[in-house]
Amino acid sequence: MCGIIGYIGYRDAVPILISGLKRMEYRGYDSAGLAIAGNGRIQVKKEVGKISELEQVLNGGVVHGNIGLGHTRWATHGVPSQVNAHPHIDSKGHIALIHNGIIENYAALRQRMEKKGHKFRTETDTETLAYLIEEAYNGNLLEAVQMALAQVRGTYGLAVICDQEPDKIVAARMGSPLIIGVGEGENFVASDLAAIVAYTRNVIYLEDGEVAVLQADGVQHRTLTNEKIKKTVEAVSIDLAEIEKSGYEHFMLKEIMEQPRTLEDSMRGRLLEEEGTAKLGGISDYLDSLAESKRIIIVACGTSWHSALIGEHMLEELARIPVEVEYASEFRYRDPIIEEGTVVIAISQSGETADTLAAIREAKRKGAVTLGICNVVGSSIARETNSGIYIHAGPEIGVASTKAFTSQVTVLALLAMVLGRRKQISSAQGRWMVREMKRLPSLVEKILVDTEHIKEVAERFKDHRNFLYLGRGYNFPIALEGALKLKEISYIHAEGYPAAEMKHGPIALIDKDMPVVFIATQDGTYEKVISNIEEVKARSGIVIAVCSEGDTEMAAKADYTLEIPKTMNFLMPILSVIPLQLLAYYIAVLRGCNVDQPRNLAKSVTVE
Ligand code: G6P
Repeated sequence: MCGIIGYIGYRDAVPILISGLKRMEYRGYDSAGLAIAGNGRIQVKKEVGKISELEQVLNGGVVHGNIGLGHTRWATHGVPSQVNAHPHIDSKGHIALIHNGIIENYAALRQRMEKKGHKFRTETDTETLAYLIEEAYNGNLLEAVQMALAQVRGTYGLAVICDQEPDKIVAARMGSPLIIGVGEGENFVASDLAAIVAYTRNVIYLEDGEVAVLQADGVQHRTLTNEKIKKTVEAVSIDLAEIEKSGYEHFMLKEIMEQPRTLEDSMRGRLLEEEGTAKLGGISDYLDSLAESKRIIIVACGTSWHSALIGEHMLEELARIPVEVEYASEFRYRDPIIEEGTVVIAISQSGETADTLAAIREAKRKGAVTLGICNVVGSSIARETNSGIYIHAGPEIGVASTKAFTSQVTVLALLAMVLGRRKQISSAQGRWMVREMKRLPSLVEKILVDTEHIKEVAERFKDHRNFLYLGRGYNFPIALEGALKLKEISYIHAEGYPAAEMKHGPIALIDKDMPVVFIATQDGTYEKVISNIEEVKARSGIVIAVCSEGDTEMAAKADYTLEIPKTMNFLMPILSVIPLQLLAYYIAVLRGCNVDQPRNLAKSVTVE
């Protein structure tokens, strides 16, 4: 989704902004632009398409200055076009701004301004902000931004410059993430840590309703109503290699291959083998609330919603607590019933997904204890929940989530085990679970060591237009996730279903051209899944089975098998998803798709 970077300091802003924009390419965008202040004027350059195209426009080397703004746009209001790209300027070109989020009352504001004679050049909601600031401007940019924002309803991460005050950037946040990067003699503002981490690791997280004035030698903080506030600078630990491809063709492949290590990182220091349980320091104050809770609701979107479904199964099986999984977007608007004793858990890789954040706020308003399971340290959801568990998967750049998913499921397994031990699981059982969890990284390694067979299957099916993914129990969410991976990056239509539901609809689609991927590991539902496979074969469907290693029965029945090692049932999803991640990846590569930045998708969905 849209990316923001701003720079003020002693260096030429252009290369810094361009490198920041490139680091945010993974978020998904369709156009990009820069505004540079220098020599008493603001110059704006924008282009549809990739940052490289914007660079070509800048190659003349005519634009220079020590203060500037850069933006990648992911279209919401108005098609991707040069004119709709940010930065946007006021009517005389004195003010330039970049904006993430949505101005919800823009239509009314626009109508009012058009009556006053403003000629709108774009179809965006953001342009109204430029004119609001222009109208309010009376020699003080901070004041003008505050006055303009007082008239606005919606969400924003905003950065503004003005040619009459070429020594400052004014930034503001409401519902859309914004970070200040603190340097020496220079300062940065960005929507994403990745954009500035090459320059500084000292950051200030802006909260909703806060405004920052960045100058080369310092940053001042105010509220929207101009109260002074003090903010603390936090040091972030992020290694540049973590946000680079390190020799891999794509981030997605790098992140799939990293999973043995990321699983290790998710469990590091948490497993207590002797006691047969785990230590989850982040939620220690809330363990009683969780263990005594009458109901747990998990809210999430996309891939995180799939890990929530696995979490539901784990928590109900091991901890015997009723769990409901909700799409965050549905939960937030349904006036949900939150009784006493309800704990609401948000799962989010980015910790910034607008719907999940809003769902958590709604749950808090209704009195629930809230917990976050996030990857990005210091993200909004991590900060706004009562407590939480980080998954420690490291930065995930590929839009299609892989390593964050397996780490989310791992952390949910830890949580289910901890609660289960307090309720009904014996120490012997607990010790067995811990030992199995410790084996997970090497089991994943075993799948990743030879991927030739998966490549062959990808080659065979790359031109098919439809896929069906079926699984039961713990493997049903994996069917959903496998189908999502394929459609996200290869644009092949794929659907995931509980295997038994096939008879209630999808079976009508099965013929000799329909590949059906079964996740058919040897668990309690194995025999039932075998029957479902027979039903597909009887209709000439093609069966690709993810199955347990050494399963000769499956090898005889399925057209293709992708074998995975055996472990305890509740941990199987962490293994069974790996071949499906790779299958989707290889198919997408063979089809020539842009794997890391699939069309229309965004890594972090910060608008509704
Ligand atoms: C987007 C991403 C998905 C992700 C979903 C939820 O759709 O493309 O990969 O699963 O958002 O994101 P979150 O950061 O909340 O896990």
